[in-house]
Amino acid sequence: MVSRRRLLAGGAALVAAPLILRADRTAPRPISGPALPIPPLAEGRLVDGVRVFDLTVRRTIHEFGAGRRGPAIGIDATYGGPTLRMRAGETVRLRVTNRLDETTTLHWHGFHLPAAADGGPHQRIAPGAVWEPSFRVLQKAGLFWYHSHLMGETGRQIYFGQAGPIYVEDEEEAALPLPREYGVDDIPLVVQDRRFDADGVPVYALDPMSVATGYIGDVAVVNGAVSPHFVARRRRLRLRLLNAANASVYRFRFSDGRRFHVIAGDGGLLERPLSVDTLLLAPGERAQILVEIRPGPPFRLEADILAPMMGMHRRGGRDVLRRLHVLRIVPESVLDPAPPPPVRLVSLPRPRPERAVRMRRFVLSMGMGMGMGGMGRRERSMHHPDRYGDTGPMGADHGRHGRGGPMYPPYASGTGRGVGPMGMRFTINGKSMDMDRIDEVVRVGTDEIWEVINRSPMPHPFHVHDVQFRILDRDGRPPDGIDSGLKDTVLVPPMGRVRLLLSFRDYVDPERPYMYHCHILEHEDAGMMGQFVVVA
Ligand code: C2O
Ligand code: CU
Ligand code: CU
Repeated sequence: MVSRRRLLAGGAALVAAPLILRADRTAPRPISGPALPIPPLAEGRLVDGVRVFDLTVRRTIHEFGAGRRGPAIGIDATYGGPTLRMRAGETVRLRVTNRLDETTTLHWHGFHLPAAADGGPHQRIAPGAVWEPSFRVLQKAGLFWYHSHLMGETGRQIYFGQAGPIYVEDEEEAALPLPREYGVDDIPLVVQDRRFDADGVPVYALDPMSVATGYIGDVAVVNGAVSPHFVARRRRLRLRLLNAANASVYRFRFSDGRRFHVIAGDGGLLERPLSVDTLLLAPGERAQILVEIRPGPPFRLEADILAPMMGMHRRGGRDVLRRLHVLRIVPESVLDPAPPPPVRLVSLPRPRPERAVRMRRFVLSMGMGMGMGGMGRRERSMHHPDRYGDTGPMGADHGRHGRGGPMYPPYASGTGRGVGPMGMRFTINGKSMDMDRIDEVVRVGTDEIWEVINRSPMPHPFHVHDVQFRILDRDGRPPDGIDSGLKDTVLVPPMGRVRLLLSFRDYVDPERPYMYHCHILEHEDAGMMGQFVVVA
């Protein structure tokens, strides 16, 4: 396996350029982008039967390739973090050391775990501190992820790199004939988009418009590299796609229009592979796909960023803001064989909405906030003129000059930002996030139906901590495709309505809440988030 990896690395450099020249008939040019970085696989170490991972978050300087370079945040890396591999049923402990000069958190997105271990806004890690949550892995095999969740600062910390993938494995998945050689035919793709200035330095500069739409970039950054390439050596690739963008909804497709199979969504495998030619993933969502590789010219995985608001960029019926080049796939001239996709994957229990004891409604809105409280908070943000001009990982110019801490104090407990620039309010049920307010109280051992209603002109990816839910219907229509599997994030279209079935099985904690929120990070940071506790 070592020699294969070495061959792969060498192959990328030696083989790619001539193949590319043949490939692009319209614009022949040598490969210019970087090779796809494969995040190192972290297996942790076993201590008394517990799998222990050590993670250190730091400020770094990162090379994005293609002439882009700048300050970033990395977790044992210059950008992003390793792929944590866990097995269903085992207990893990994550030792997170914060070497940033500001507070942070680390959240395990998609995991069912005690609220105290969740890594949400309440589990703050001060500079220099170590946070050490432990929990049992109760997930099915799938792709999950970890990322910053600091109140009001999640968008910036993730933008500069504080996110990484998690693989959960189980016996059911291991028994299926699926590609699973990490970095060879089983590839994590942490897909993001970024803006760079004229010097090639990443920029996170919020203004009223980019808070409203969420911060959308113009260049794809995949595993920390700008539009990279990958040399494929097997007849079938398993790509594990994570939309880790701050705000962009991606519609994935291949440049030659080839079809592919979707085998998994957020919480694990689907019942059977789904043959498609496009795949929509909103921020926070994941999918696993199988792509058949044939010897021949390179082709690209592309992502269209959907126009964020109704009426924007819709001329001629187009709903696309821009197209990103996610990954150029360069087939080797001789490919190793691979088994065809299995016909059946797993069986999922039929959702039983009749068992739900309670219905809750969540109304997502964005609009002008004119209340007195709103005005007060707006004043507050105006006293921090740099608030909407951050450019580095530490905010304002600190990232560029490498000195000192954040320009403004991290938002203290109970002060959700609530009101964005120009008084725009991002609310759920008319309320902006308040860390001192519990919005919903759920009884352990019960099933509930949550109805999420979008009363705004933008789609919002609604994410719920602690549980994998099932989608009951969208505007009254039963779910299909990836919607029929286990989910933790669901895109609710403008003026749309989605009903979810959630099952709260264990982990009582009347003090510490879980979050539900829009996974457009600028909306979340501006207050489109609420909290629930699970009680006995
Ligand atoms: Cu991916 Cu509340 O987070
Ligand atoms: Cu989450
Ligand atoms: Cu939103």
